[in-house]
Amino acid sequence: MHSGVSKFSFPTTIYFGAGAIDELPQYLKDVGIKKPLVVTDPGMLQTAVFPRVEGVLRDSAIAFGLFSQVNPNPLDSDIQKAVDMYNEEACDGLIGLGGGSALDAAKMVQVIAGHGGKVNDYDISTGGNENIKGPLPQMVAIPTTSGTGSEVGSCSVITSVALGRKFLVCSPLLIPAIALLDPELTMGMPAALTAGTGMDAFTHCIEALSVKDFHPMCDAIALKGIEFVAHYLETAVKEPDNIEARGYMQLAAMMGAVSFQKDLGAAHSLSHSLSAVCHVPHGLANAICLVPVMKFNKENCLEEYAEVAACFGINTFDMSREEAAEKAIEAVADLKKRIGIPDKLSDVGVKEKDLEELTEKAFLDGCHQSNPRSCTREDLKELYREVL
Ligand SMILES: [Fe+2]
Repeated sequence: MHSGVSKFSFPTTIYFGAGAIDELPQYLKDVGIKKPLVVTDPGMLQTAVFPRVEGVLRDSAIAFGLFSQVNPNPLDSDIQKAVDMYNEEACDGLIGLGGGSALDAAKMVQVIAGHGGKVNDYDISTGGNENIKGPLPQMVAIPTTSGTGSEVGSCSVITSVALGRKFLVCSPLLIPAIALLDPELTMGMPAALTAGTGMDAFTHCIEALSVKDFHPMCDAIALKGIEFVAHYLETAVKEPDNIEARGYMQLAAMMGAVSFQKDLGAAHSLSHSLSAVCHVPHGLANAICLVPVMKFNKENCLEEYAEVAACFGINTFDMSREEAAEKAIEAVADLKKRIGIPDKLSDVGVKEKDLEELTEKAFLDGCHQSNPRSCTREDLKELYREVL
């Protein structure tokens, strides 16, 4: 048993179910939003999702502003333009609609619309998050991918073009008031995106479970998320209209992000660097790096990985913890193969010459600090090498 005092907090109100989007007007009313600014990306306007959401708002005569210019990695200039629109249109709250980028952008619009200033004023690395004191405009988060879980997260990642780097802004005040999870809105996701984002959710659950902080609630949530991915990701990839699989993957993504309030691990340091240096999509990078990281961590995570094996339906009754942990790693590698994730980083454009810069940036990334086995620079390089 852990000594000292622990804090357990799960503040988001979550509505889940096919057709939940029809209740959006009521949810807006519940948090006092009369005229929302919808923040999304240009691609969303081309899908069936946007007209669906727009129809629900129009049917209830809810006036709204629309900012649809969020970049794939949201820029500080996107945020400023959205804030200008928020003010011009006299909006009083936000709807974040889309993947992690749209939701992160909407969170940052909350901050700047509420407090003024610039994105870098709130950078966590310089203590700027202390400047977020609230109250902020309310937000309803509507995810259309099942990966980041940003709808229940307290952080936003924004890139400053002028300053040439990404800013991480985190505060409990950024956690959306309401997350609206309607699996029907994720059915248009293509197979590769479903696989990559699904493996991001899976990596969140595995890494959160592996972190050694005392948080039995997050551990239980992570294990259930792992079970959902083990049972439903392959179906969601291969049967895009399977509402049950889409629903469970949406839950797994949300639960992954709830559980990683414990922290993440080395796979995320490796993947953050792969995205920054070689532009490998985040989920795909995690999917390729997770197995080597699990092997690296195995001796420190025998108990946890034995539980992961059980989530895959493996009967571990007669196995040693060591054998069960090994089976878990095999099951993850097998899942990855079945959903079409490439084995090697070279398959996604990474070259031997990138290794130094990748290692440097991964080592500077904070996630491996909470990895269950401490990582040297050389360890991280070796982990890349294993899958190069
Ligand atoms: Fe992630």
